[in-house]
Amino acid sequence: MMATDNSKTVKNDEPDDGSYTQSNSLYNVIGRNSHYVALLTAWVATCGSLFFSEILGWAPCLLCWYQRIFMYPLSLVLAVGILRRDKGLHKYALALSIPGACISLFHYLDQKTDLVKALVPCTVGVPCSADYLNAFGGVVTIPFLALIAFLIITFCMVAARLGNDADIEEDEPSIDAAKQPGRIAIALPVFVIIAAVVLAYFIAGSSYRYGGIGSSGSTTTYSSNPLPTPDSTAAARGKVLYESTCAACHGIKGEGTPSGLALTTSQQVLTGTNESLVKFVRMGRAANDPHNVTGMAMPANGGRSDSSDQDIVAVIVYMRQLAKNAGSGPSS
Ligand code: HEC
Repeated sequence: MMATDNSKTVKNDEPDDGSYTQSNSLYNVIGRNSHYVALLTAWVATCGSLFFSEILGWAPCLLCWYQRIFMYPLSLVLAVGILRRDKGLHKYALALSIPGACISLFHYLDQKTDLVKALVPCTVGVPCSADYLNAFGGVVTIPFLALIAFLIITFCMVAARLGNDADIEEDEPSIDAAKQPGRIAIALPVFVIIAAVVLAYFIAGSSYRYGGIGSSGSTTTYSSNPLPTPDSTAAARGKVLYESTCAACHGIKGEGTPSGLALTTSQQVLTGTNESLVKFVRMGRAANDPHNVTGMAMPANGGRSDSSDQDIVAVIVYMRQLAKNAGSGPSS
């Protein structure tokens, strides 16, 4: 066909141009598979967040909950949307993934900068700025992972939309119908993806609990009797755990903050035994506990139920050091 008179239609109906049909079907491939990539991402993020909270015992802060509110529905909305071949799926998904990405970004900024400090809603429970996971030089934290997941889903939905556009504009129904996979071919990957991620979650969960991947080396036992004696590296290890977990409430030097007591003047820290302190940190103290002096809760394990006795003893050594330094030096 030599349509020289109308350059606009040439682009649309030139079937013999190989490169054009190729890129068109590439669009289709991207469009179709991006749904599955988004689905996989949502399920990995959902099960991953459950792994952190339910298996590792890391208590989610308020901002984590807000991100969960946007991520968890995505895993189901995407599955149903794919099964129903809903052309409008991207609208529902983007309505969840974009606000989710904004919250993750906000949370990440709170962890890494002081830009948004005044707006942070975490006033009770685990502080939003606490980094449980602080991998790869402190770059990769949980909200960082969530942000990546939300962005992947957003990107996939935009790609799917573009892919769908190519689908609709294609005006050769016979080829299109031939390329259109059947119902089962569309549905099967959905179930395979969900089953695989859920299975991985349970395998990882049970091997962590019973076999101990991640519960590294010597620190596998909880509440062993007698308590491990602190070694020469305890203070250094305690410092790391203290600063990532306890400092948000108790202050970086143990000086206290509006959400936690000063430890430098604490009689418990200065005179208590290791046993009594481990017990206290393990249990935490509810806000309505009769012994509570501040009216605020101390979360069990400071919010880190993955810590071993050895970790907690190390933190105690470090807390004592802070209290001693504060006592001897000029008081701040
Ligand atoms: C979410 C904030 C928060 C975090 C995180 C936290 N604490 Fe606390 N902690 C508190 C509050 C609030 C109290 C005071 C409870 C009360 O009023 O009795 C407290 C009390 C304590 C006390 C008792 C002090 C005293 O004199 O009675 C110790 C010891 C202590 N925390 C250690 C830790 C350690 C160790 C960690 C980290 C592993 C930690 N806390 C993490 C909020 C926190």
